[in-house]
Order: sequence, then structure tokens, then C-alpha cells
Amino acid sequence: MKERLEQLRTEALQELEQVGSPQQLNDLRVKYLGKKGALTEILRGMGGLSAEERPVIGQVANDVRSAIETVIDSKQEAFREAETNNRLLAETLDVTLPGKKLASGAIHPLNKVAQEIEDVFIGLGYTIAEGPEVEEDYYNFEALNLPKNHPARDMQDSFYVTDDILMRTHTSPVQVRTMKAMNGQTPIKVICPGKVYRRDDDDATHSFQFNQIEGLVIGKNIRMSDLKGTLLQFVQQMFGSQAQIRLRPSFFPFTEPSAEVDVTCVQCAGSGCRMCKHTGWLEILGCGMVHPRVLEMGGYDPEEVSGFAFGMGVERIALLKYGIDDIRHFYTNDLRFLGQFARM
Ligand code: DAH
Repeated sequence: MKERLEQLRTEALQELEQVGSPQQLNDLRVKYLGKKGALTEILRGMGGLSAEERPVIGQVANDVRSAIETVIDSKQEAFREAETNNRLLAETLDVTLPGKKLASGAIHPLNKVAQEIEDVFIGLGYTIAEGPEVEEDYYNFEALNLPKNHPARDMQDSFYVTDDILMRTHTSPVQVRTMKAMNGQTPIKVICPGKVYRRDDDDATHSFQFNQIEGLVIGKNIRMSDLKGTLLQFVQQMFGSQAQIRLRPSFFPFTEPSAEVDVTCVQCAGSGCRMCKHTGWLEILGCGMVHPRVLEMGGYDPEEVSGFAFGMGVERIALLKYGIDDIRHFYTNDLRFLGQFARM
């Protein structure tokens, strides 16, 4: 029996010497030391031994077992180490390789300018109101003192969905919606940003769809001087503290009196250049004191309250602010154009 054990040791150690994978190693463990393995098989014969032989053989069997186990353990450790080394090798980083450049997005210049405008007015205590782009004729025209067949409707040629529903031509209908929602309460101090639509052929200064920001203030004793002060504050925050404004009399059916507002030319600071056609001024928005009829239709008593309103085109402000010569740049998504505003 002793010889068989010794032979088993020799055989096992020889086989283990050749082992090439963790799987094979495991197979050998089962083959020699497993419950149905070779060693157990031999030890089954222990019952037939004499009392003196038994401990001797037992000792030999233990020696054999532990010799085999030692080799298996060390082989296993070697496999583990080799695997770790392979993994490290496969994961090596060449830190001298050039990096991959990540393309980063940026806010679109129009959104940027709109946000800046909004920030100025939010700083002045305004809140933001919104309304639908598909609008009723009533809100877009009628309640703004532009009854059917009013000639001023021609200035805003429109896309009609039905006779009474159209793509809004300006953000002014949100004035009416805000007044109605406020149910006669004061004060109102809102700006209304959004897209508007007109039946225009696209060119360097026109687009069938563009963005406006409307402003509306209603309260007791609101005067034209409040409007002027507000617009000066706005213009100086947008274009710099040296910027000035001038108001020219104008006409809008929803305001009385109405004015058009110019800002000192951003290019020549007022001395006259091609951009301002040598006037020193650039037109930036329309405004006025809310017409009594508009107040009435909005649910307010023109004897009790007064208000001012203004409306500006975001594209126009952006063109002036950045010295851009064609409105179509904003819509054609040329990354060479858009990229210039990434860090401004
Ligand atoms: N709605 C006008 C337009 O689209 C702009 C405008 C002018 C708005 C005067 C106003 C205003 O609120 O008072 O051209």
C-alpha cells in the first residue's frame, strides 16, 4: 500500500508539472484528491491493515496528500499571478498618445441674446409670461385695437390656419392674455418672449419666423417717463453704459402715444458710419402707452390705471450686438458661425 501511495505521489507530481491551465489543474485536483479520486480509492483499503500498519500508512497518506496540495496551491497562485500580469499588460495606457478632442456644444447666439434680455428685465422685477404660437385673431389683432379690415393689419401679413386662427404675427397677444388672466389686478410687470410668424420672403433682414420679446407694465400712475427710464436702463445693460436712446413719434394701434426707439450706433458710438446710415442711431424697438381701448378690452379701467408696452425683435438686437450682417446666419446652422459664440 505504501508503494501505491508513493507511486501516486510521483505520478501526480509529474502530471502537475505539465499542467497548462487552471481548468486542467482543477481536473487534476479532482482526479487525485477528490471524493472519488485516486487517493481516496487507495485509502479505502486501510480497513484491511493491522493496527501497527495503520498509523504508518496514515502518515504516508497524509504526506502524499499535503505534497500534492502544496504543488496544486502554488500552481494556482502562479496562474493567478500570470492572469493579473496579462490584464495589467492589456490595460496599459500610453499616456504620450494625443488625446481625443471632445466637441462641446454652445448656446445658440439667439438664445443667448434672448436670455440676456430676459435677465435685464428679471433684474428689474419683471416676470416671464408665455402664450400660444397658434393664436386667435381676437388676441393677435382684435383685442389690440386692430379690428377686421384695419389697414395696419397689412404691416403684419400672416399665415392663417382658419379665418379666425393664425400663426401669431407678434408677441403682443400675450399682453392681452396676461391682462385677462390678471382679472383687473395691478401691478402687471411682464415680458413675453417667443416665436412669431409673418408671410415674408426670407432675405438678409427678413424671415418668415423670428423671435420677439414683448414688455407690459400696468399700474397706477404709470407714465411715459417710466417707459423711457426703463428702456434707457435696458439699453445700457445690453449695449454698455455709454449707450443713449431717443424716441421718435410713431404709430401702433395698441399704443397711444407710440414711439420708435433708437440706440446710439454700436459701431461708431454716434458719430455716423455706414451701419447707421450716418445718422448715429439704430432703431431697436417699438413702444408706447397702452391704448385706453386695449386696457378696456383687457378688463382694466383706463381712468384708474395706465401702462406702457414695448416689443423688440431678438434677431435685430443680436445682429446689432454682434455686428452680424445677415439674419439667415442664425438659421442655417453653420458651425463655423455658431462656434464663434461659444465663449462669448
Ligand atoms: N407688436 C409690434 C410689432 O410686432 C411691436 C410693438 C410695438 C409692441 C409697440 C408693443 C408696442 O408692445 O407697444 O412690430
